[in-house]
Amino acid sequence: MTIAPEAAPIAAAAGPHIPGLLGRIEDRLGAIAAAYPEPLSGWASGTIAAGGKRLRPLLVLVAAGPPESWADPAGEGLVRAGAAVELVHSATLVHDDVLDAAALRRGAPTVWAAAGRGPAVATGDALFADAFCELVRSGDARQVRALSRAGSALAEGELLQRADAWDTTVAYERYAHRCELKTARLFEAACVLGVLAGGGDDARAAELEAFGRRIGLAFQLLDDVLDVSGPSERTGKHRGTDLLDGTVTLPFLIARERDPTIAGLDLRTVTTPAAAEALCDAIDACGALETARDQALALVAEAKADLPSGLPQTQRAALDLVADGVVARYA
Ligand code: IPE
Ligand code: IPE
Ligand code: MG
Ligand code: MG
Repeated sequence: MTIAPEAAPIAAAAGPHIPGLLGRIEDRLGAIAAAYPEPLSGWASGTIAAGGKRLRPLLVLVAAGPPESWADPAGEGLVRAGAAVELVHSATLVHDDVLDAAALRRGAPTVWAAAGRGPAVATGDALFADAFCELVRSGDARQVRALSRAGSALAEGELLQRADAWDTTVAYERYAHRCELKTARLFEAACVLGVLAGGGDDARAAELEAFGRRIGLAFQLLDDVLDVSGPSERTGKHRGTDLLDGTVTLPFLIARERDPTIAGLDLRTVTTPAAAEALCDAIDACGALETARDQALALVAEAKADLPSGLPQTQRAALDLVADGVVARYA
């Protein structure tokens, strides 16, 4: 099992049980994708095999705490929960690339770009459905409910993003709400599922839920920074994809306060990759990327500071590293 470079220090801190569990999650993901008939199987397997950091399954495992505390020492429920969260994540990425008209994902052509809208919608639907098939085997309705709510929030967030497209005057609060819906809620669900699948109680689940929400929000703020900063060799996505698509994000919101040209811009006139790059440069030039990064760092610091006291030492260290990792990929 190859652990993504971003996840490796977290896995190492969380304990020697982690690589084996991540490997089992990977096997489940591969088996589920391979079981579809063609051509679905090819698109689903390609999506899973393209990799990704597997940050959300890792968060499930870390939220569960040390194996000595688990109700099921074999961790079967955690493997299911980790696979389910990653399936929802993968499904929403495939659908997101349709909505965002995105050409590249994880360094490879998106299903939408390679095969078109129909195959991309169907691939996302299949992965999404199987997430719940996987999770329901645990027999814990609370987990199914938590993941289902995250899925609905994601849909709401994506629609909010479309509704606000091209609106360069969008309020910061509305932007932050969108990020919470489309990204933070799934991080939150990963924490809840980890606690519950590990046999933890609802009170601990609620504590880690708040942690997941904050680092999830920070994660999206930084993803939005990365869309402007690039470089695409590092991100696996073209620079300025959000802007070309009319998606107004935090770096733009900050830059519009500092640069009157940016404030007065009609985003619909930015139609070529070169024009998007030039706008990215202008946003960077007024220091908006640093300010946005600082806001994400502050959220990460709050998330860490509010972690409950009394967590096992190894779990606390691993959660701290997850929080730091959200920011580290942009350092
Ligand atoms: C991308 O998430 C989508 C966002 C919520 C910003 P990741 O950056 O975790 O995607 P992968 O799974 O590592 O490719
Ligand atoms: C996150 O938003 C997508 C989902 C939560 C599905 P983005 O549109 O910014 O994600 P990327 O940049 O395409 O990965
Ligand atoms: Mg996108
Ligand atoms: Mg993005």
